[in-house]
Amino acid sequence: MAKAWKKSDLAINGGKPVHAESWRTGPFHFSAEIAALKDLLSGPALPLARGKAVMAYRDALQKLYGMKYAIPTSSGSTAIHVALFAAGVGAGDEVIVSPLTDYGSIMGIFQLNAIPVFADVQPNGLLMDVRSVAEKITPHTRAIMPVHNGGYAVDMAGIMKLARKHKVMVVEDCAQSHLASLNGKYLGTFGHIGAWSTNESKHMKSGEGGFVLTNDREMAEMADLFSDKCYPRFPGAPPTPAFPALNVRMSDVNAALALVQLERLPTWTVQRQAFGVTFYEELKGIPGIQPHPLPKGAMPSFWWSLFVVDKEVLGVTAGEFCEMVRKEGIPASAGPQRYVPAWEVFRQLHKNPKVFRTYCPGRLKKGSYPLDVAPNAMTAGERLGAITITQHNTVGEARASARAVRKVASALLGKAL
Ligand SMILES: Cc1ncc(COP(=O)(O)O)c(C=O)c1O
Repeated sequence: MAKAWKKSDLAINGGKPVHAESWRTGPFHFSAEIAALKDLLSGPALPLARGKAVMAYRDALQKLYGMKYAIPTSSGSTAIHVALFAAGVGAGDEVIVSPLTDYGSIMGIFQLNAIPVFADVQPNGLLMDVRSVAEKITPHTRAIMPVHNGGYAVDMAGIMKLARKHKVMVVEDCAQSHLASLNGKYLGTFGHIGAWSTNESKHMKSGEGGFVLTNDREMAEMADLFSDKCYPRFPGAPPTPAFPALNVRMSDVNAALALVQLERLPTWTVQRQAFGVTFYEELKGIPGIQPHPLPKGAMPSFWWSLFVVDKEVLGVTAGEFCEMVRKEGIPASAGPQRYVPAWEVFRQLHKNPKVFRTYCPGRLKKGSYPLDVAPNAMTAGERLGAITITQHNTVGEARASARAVRKVASALLGKAL
């Protein structure tokens, strides 16, 4: 039978925590990675570009995601940079992006001398709101970059409809959404090109790394050339560097690690999904607590397990709520994604669009980045809670997480739930 908890029962007030055991963790790299590196290092020398591991990784990515072209890169940030270039983004173009993201989503826009334009997120979530994206489209918009925060799907049907209407490119930031899907189709395969990160915090890890996937041959070739010095390394490539490019290709060392991790990714994703789905099942019937909203048919890959805290009902912010849950032994935190327009770089550009000698988009106007450019995103931390998980966390821990949330809500509301 449901129990009515009192505030004095809460661990934050000295009560017994719901989950006294330590939160499960464990290794992420195993003997197969060591064997792969040993194999690589026992050759005469590491290859310079298009090594065996990189080429095998390309094939494996294409096969797993069912996409025609994969281009591994040195990081997720460079994957996005490369994808934006391949999508034709250049100086003065506007790229509509989420204000709740990692700097990696923004860096490439800056480096191409394009202009980040922030669309707001949904009132109750971390994800870009299609209605706000629609409002931000201008004749200068070149691309929309949906960020699938935490492995949760942006409404891609809505984004693609807008993109078709306004003839703009869609570059999906899938850094946090490996193997997340929408109606059975992987995120990152809806737009014109997708970009992933495989840094050490992601669903799969390769030291550093990233990759780009597309079905468009021309974009794939541009991405390949731009990331690899524009050198003639595939049939049909220009014989000498034909445009300004970078060297941000993936090394064989990172690719050898990534290749092993990619094999584990489907199992690891299922483990995270088991946690997330169980957590949401067990949250049912708790007033003031909801799973993060999702479009119909979405299966997140649960980089976090996100939930919404209604202050009107519970009388506390997500920050206060999560602190109480944390004391119950569950790693909960509020507002897991930072509000980018508050960063110093945007505060400076707001005052003076020419403040940085390395950033000359031309058309950027003074006053383009008011602090409250995206009000829902600015206050998202007051509503959004996240449980930090990895593939090591169990369904039992998901149930304990929901029990902790239920206990805190019960104590706050003073009734059995
Ligand atoms: C949403 C998002 N985009 C881009 C990146 C950049 O990836 P990387 O750190 O591999 O450069 C990250 C990394 O945390 C991210 O979370």
